[in-house]
Amino acid sequence: MEKWMGGDMHPSYRILMGPGPSNVHYRVYQAMSNPVIGYLDPQILACMDEISEMLRGVFQTKNQATLAISATGSSGMEASYVNFVEPGDVVVIGVNGFFADRMTQVASRCGAKVIRVEEEWGKMIEPEKMISALKEHPEAKVCGVVHGETSTGVWQSLEEIGAYCKRTDTLLVVDAVTTVGGYDVKVDEWGIDVCYGSSQKCLGVPPGLSPITVSPKAMDVLRSRKTKVQSFYLDLTLLEILGRGKGLLPHGSCLDVLCVERRAEDYL
Ligand SMILES: Cc1ncc(COP(=O)(O)O)c(C=O)c1O
Repeated sequence: MEKWMGGDMHPSYRILMGPGPSNVHYRVYQAMSNPVIGYLDPQILACMDEISEMLRGVFQTKNQATLAISATGSSGMEASYVNFVEPGDVVVIGVNGFFADRMTQVASRCGAKVIRVEEEWGKMIEPEKMISALKEHPEAKVCGVVHGETSTGVWQSLEEIGAYCKRTDTLLVVDAVTTVGGYDVKVDEWGIDVCYGSSQKCLGVPPGLSPITVSPKAMDVLRSRKTKVQSFYLDLTLLEILGRGKGLLPHGSCLDVLCVERRAEDYL
């Protein structure tokens, strides 16, 4: 039995064949040995700018509000609902797996009235099915779908849902945790308003960051909230107050992981 407490930890090298975490590139390991510097150091601010720019490339977007949140992919999911949903708002979520179901739990904790569009686990949700639910609920503030449902390996087509949401006031929120960096995620072309990922999957970085991008349409919704965002840590309204375009949120960042993300995107 390996000893994990009170001694050196030497995890064995493993070829990771699951849907994440993935094996980490050796250059990323090299970047992890960089010295820690202050989170307001000009070098870090410059690094954050570069990360935002690179993430725009990964997400195929021009969205100014593109950054890496300092926490795993679940923080991207939480941020997507806590920022854009206020108590009593209607959200329509496609549910065909474990993470889609988790989206409904996160949305209902934000006080949303959740309309579930159910599909058998293992099957993609036909876009027409999502669109007809949206037509039934034109008041829906958010439409949520998972691009790559890790629990079943099912990919979700997004273009038609995005094209529909683009013509309405509904925001399209997409979980791209398993796809971003490994599969096309065309945020602007497909009309996605909020899209988040996670560092430890196709980006090949250790867990600890959730890249997220927010469209101008979604930023307008954020600015017109009647209530304060209930989470301080994930409050994206503070981006404009504190961020000055630098992806800053009101807390320190996982600096070491940020540096390695910068390196990983370099070779992506
Ligand atoms: C599709 C999907 N969404 C969200 C998550 C949560 O991400 P994390 O474990 O990085 O918090 C996962 C994790 O596997 C996932 O596969």
